[in-house]
Amino acid sequence: MKIALIGYGKMGKAIEKIALSRGHQIVSVIDINTADGFSSGEFKSADVAIEFTTPDTAFNNYMKAFEAGVPVVSGTTGWLDRIDEVKKMCKNEGKTFFYASNFSIGVNIFFAVNKYLAKIMNNFPAYDVRMTETHHIHKLDAPSGTAITLAEDILANVERKNRWTLDKEEQAADLPIHAIREGEVPGIHEIVYDSEVDYISIKHDAKSREGFALGAVVAAEFTAGKVGFLGMNDMLKF
Ligand SMILES: NC(=O)c1ccc[n+]([C@@H]2O[C@H](COP(=O)([O-])OP(=O)(O)OC[C@H]3O[C@@H](n4cnc5c(N)ncnc54)[C@H](O)[C@@H]3O)[C@@H](O)[C@H]2O)c1
Repeated sequence: MKIALIGYGKMGKAIEKIALSRGHQIVSVIDINTADGFSSGEFKSADVAIEFTTPDTAFNNYMKAFEAGVPVVSGTTGWLDRIDEVKKMCKNEGKTFFYASNFSIGVNIFFAVNKYLAKIMNNFPAYDVRMTETHHIHKLDAPSGTAITLAEDILANVERKNRWTLDKEEQAADLPIHAIREGEVPGIHEIVYDSEVDYISIKHDAKSREGFALGAVVAAEFTAGKVGFLGMNDMLKF
């Protein structure tokens, strides 16, 4: 498959490595100083463009790729106030766009398992629920975005819980998230349902950051030749 890269930072470079190892060809690389590349024959020849840039530039990049007739897979965060415009273009103008705020396939499987378990546990009030997330010491935010997504999915399904809290539990209806920062841990999320007689836990433990890049390349393979607005649920068919 012919892939164009839009954004050649940490993710762009990781994606290039994985794409080449899976037998794909990188036909065009566009970064901040090579933005005129969108009109090149090489860019237009791509089966799909993978976009990882910045919140302020992503939407404009999508428009330029669409103009060139190239489908886009993007993982850039922080631009979602314009997502309805992109959805409309996919629906009305036959554009192709795949978006995921977390491309790790394992994390997306974990999201689905978490929702399923939460639906079951809604019927078993003897179990209290809590979460722990562990990340490297450089991470500035807490809890992690992934922990918040997991917590929101629990709150949507476990009626006895009505908010998540960070490192405290003030009321029985709280879902406490304990955030640990240590070493170079890429990311661990564990959810525990605890009763007087036992506990059930599910855990996702990332071995490296490569999972995001691999997920983006697999998404590009899935997207080539398709039309419309696509996401991880379409690809993983939950
Ligand atoms: N969805 C996911 O799974 C996932 C995973 C990791 C990172 N991200 C997101 O992906 C984005 C990029 O992450 P990163 O770690 O590669 O960042 P980075 O800062 O390492 O790279 C961004 C690159 O975009 C380039 N760029 C800036 N403006 C541009 C423009 N107008 N046209 C083309 N290129 C331009 C920069 O020069 C830089 O090379 C961020 O929004 C980050 O939050 C998402």
